[in-house]
Amino acid sequence: MIEAKPIVVGISGASGAVLARETVNELLRREIPTIAVCSNAARLVWQEELDQSFSDALSEWREHPQFTDYGIGDLRAPIASGTFPTAGMAVVPCSMNTVASVAHGLAGNLLLRTADVCLKERRRLVLVPRETPLHSIHLENLLAVSRAGAVILPPEPAFYLKPRGMEDLVRFVVSRVLVALGVADDLPQDLQYQGGS
Ligand SMILES: Cc1cc2nc3c(=O)[nH]c(=O)nc-3n(C[C@H](O)[C@H](O)[C@H](O)COP(=O)(O)O)c2cc1C
Repeated sequence: MIEAKPIVVGISGASGAVLARETVNELLRREIPTIAVCSNAARLVWQEELDQSFSDALSEWREHPQFTDYGIGDLRAPIASGTFPTAGMAVVPCSMNTVASVAHGLAGNLLLRTADVCLKERRRLVLVPRETPLHSIHLENLLAVSRAGAVILPPEPAFYLKPRGMEDLVRFVVSRVLVALGVADDLPQDLQYQGGS
């Protein structure tokens, strides 16, 4: 049997730690090999937004046999090389700092290097950028990364689905990320627009 290739989840220091948590949880629920790498800023945001240390989240995920993680400075991790097969990467949430670095081919930490590898190897790279408002440098960087092959997937609700709160918004974005990564074929039926009444 051929082993499924892992998905890398890069967690950077934008607001939206809950999106990272639920993306990893959903991948593991589907028994998909998942590799996480988290920036130093993301650890601060995690604590701020989820009232939990990232280390505690790691301890829980490490119980799962399909989960692996590497430190942000670990440039000797397998995912730093294009020779190591992965099925792609989502950077969720994606800070403007990380967008700018990826747009300019900067690869000074493991998250950035892995994103750069995905682009050069023509693998799926999904960025979930979170900032508002956006200035022209943000927009130009997002365009550059899109032109290099990444999917830009802002964490925005489909208002026509009438989300009732945070849980609905998170589920919608995470479902979108899974489809963009090729992990799911389609959105769940209740997240598909069924036409006006
Ligand atoms: C609580 C908190 C929320 C933040 N939210 C955002 C955000 O939504 N978008 C963003 O681009 N940066 C945000 N930042 C700033 C980034 O964390 C900062 O630019 C950092 O250098 C990003 O580093 P990284 O790209 O290596 O994760 C936030 C920082 C903190 C502490």
